[in-house]
Amino acid sequence: MNIVVICGSLRKASFNMMLARNLAALAPGDVRLTLLDGLEHFPPYCADIAQTPEIVTRWADAIAAADGVIVVSPEYNHSVPGTLKNALDWLSRDTNNPFARKPVALQSASTGMLGGARMQYHLRQIMVFFDARLLNKPEFFVSHAASRFAADGTLRDENTAEAIAGHLAAFRLFVRDHQSERPWGSNDVHQAGAG
Ligand code: FNR
Repeated sequence: MNIVVICGSLRKASFNMMLARNLAALAPGDVRLTLLDGLEHFPPYCADIAQTPEIVTRWADAIAAADGVIVVSPEYNHSVPGTLKNALDWLSRDTNNPFARKPVALQSASTGMLGGARMQYHLRQIMVFFDARLLNKPEFFVSHAASRFAADGTLRDENTAEAIAGHLAAFRLFVRDHQSERPWGSNDVHQAGAG
């Protein structure tokens, strides 16, 4: 199972990037995680830019080819960081909306006590427009992030490690369930919708 990971922070000592980098070691054995780099290369979105930037195509292709996506992001002013929202705006303009019907899980880390929860609800709202398939439960937040990681990014909190492993295991099952669903638009689904 191939999962791509998007991190919403550009900061060198980012706790969210530390979290993102700790996921692979805690993932189920058949899950391969690939961290997408280059968030800083997304130009400010402008519909007048006729040529799609290379970074947009690279991320859109990686997301489209993946079995699922995990977004790991800080909360800025109770919402989604502008850099991440800008990248999502670009990706949403890709002709084949790579998030459509894609399983997505959200994670966040914050130095505060709510762990970025409010950001996650705004990100969920954006993902509804993308028609992504969001894992509802378990939710996953890292509060008081500065106390959970060593300066080199090593996770030093057993409860957080257990929660990460549980979240990734749940997402794996969610992706498997999604893959076994009949494709949207099949006759049965159409008839159910019409009834
Ligand atoms: C923050 N921070 C923050 N934290 C939070 O829990 N809720 C919030 O609304 C905000 N708002 C906010 C705005 C801005 C502009 C900054 C720079 C920071 C604090 C934030 O969680 C903390 O700086 C994290 O360490 C940022 O994530 P990274 O860069 O460490 O991954």
